Amino acid sequence: MTTENPGTTPSVAELVEAAEEITDLPARFRLDGRHYVVLGGGRGMGRHTSHSLAQLGARVVVVDADRERAGAVAAEIGAGATARVVDATSDTDMAALARDIGKVDGVVDVIGIARYKTLLDVSEQDWMWEHDIVLRHAWLTVRHFGRRLAEQGSGTLTFVASVSGLSSAPGHGAYGVFKAGLVSLVRTAAVELGPGGVRVNAVAPGFVLTPRMADVLDSRQLENSRAAAPLPRLTTPSDIAAGITFLVSDLAAAVTGQTLVIDAGATSSYPYRMQGFESGTDGR
Ligand SMILES: NC(=O)c1ccc[n+]([C@@H]2O[C@H](COP(=O)([O-])OP(=O)(O)OC[C@H]3O[C@@H](n4cnc5c(N)ncnc54)[C@H](O)[C@@H]3O)[C@@H](O)[C@H]2O)c1
Repeated sequence: MTTENPGTTPSVAELVEAAEEITDLPARFRLDGRHYVVLGGGRGMGRHTSHSLAQLGARVVVVDADRERAGAVAAEIGAGATARVVDATSDTDMAALARDIGKVDGVVDVIGIARYKTLLDVSEQDWMWEHDIVLRHAWLTVRHFGRRLAEQGSGTLTFVASVSGLSSAPGHGAYGVFKAGLVSLVRTAAVELGPGGVRVNAVAPGFVLTPRMADVLDSRQLENSRAAAPLPRLTTPSDIAAGITFLVSDLAAAVTGQTLVIDAGATSSYPYRMQGFESGTDGR
């Protein structure tokens, strides 16, 4: 690109010319030489995300409260992966992690657990537990790593929300409230950290066949979950890792403050059965 005004703001013509350049999209997907922290990386979506980032050339610190899980995933990945035991809901642990971690280009935080109870049945203790396991660690991630990334002028923070934070069902009360809070945290963090070159996004899964869900659901419930979505497939932890990896990569260089729904289309479906309104029926 030629520079008409060296040392000054680029001209409109220069900006147009640069915007017309064909970029190497596969190269923009690569993460070679980058360093990521995956909070909750020891199982489920975190395990798959740790592998996905490593497959694209990144070094990964697999962080989990469970030592064995973190160690097992780092060992599966092999060279370029290390394990670290941290309670992500602890301000002290998260401050120490951000201070000691060395080079970091981004954090993926997948931690979250739903304890389904109606709003009338949720105790104050349940409410605070759900807050901590869904929202507190996300705020601590923004607080400690957002500052570091903004100071270096680039980086990504990526979270796992839920369709329970965008819509609801009986029993999703506390979990859904704090996942909705996470969606809002993502927007605010994106606005506050954007000028520092930091992108902040989330994925919102629908039902995903993770090991934790496989432990609690029977085959009838699994079939109901599959049948709720228009695509004839169950969403897997690998599908969620793919969405996260897109958001982390430079393919998403202009994406921030967003929550990408990955639910096999479940929340796009019209919720009412409209018998008698088949194709061609005039419904006015
Ligand atoms: N499975 C679904 O259907 C579904 C749907 C929507 C959203 N989600 C969300 O997806 C995310 C991941 O779900 P999953 O089933 O893969 O999770 P998981 O529970 O299998 O794995 C999370 C990991 O986080 C670790 N962890 C828990 N608390 C921690 C803490 N305080 N500090 C550090 N590590 C901690 C656990 O030891 C575990 O290894 C969650 O945020 C969940 O709310 C799941």
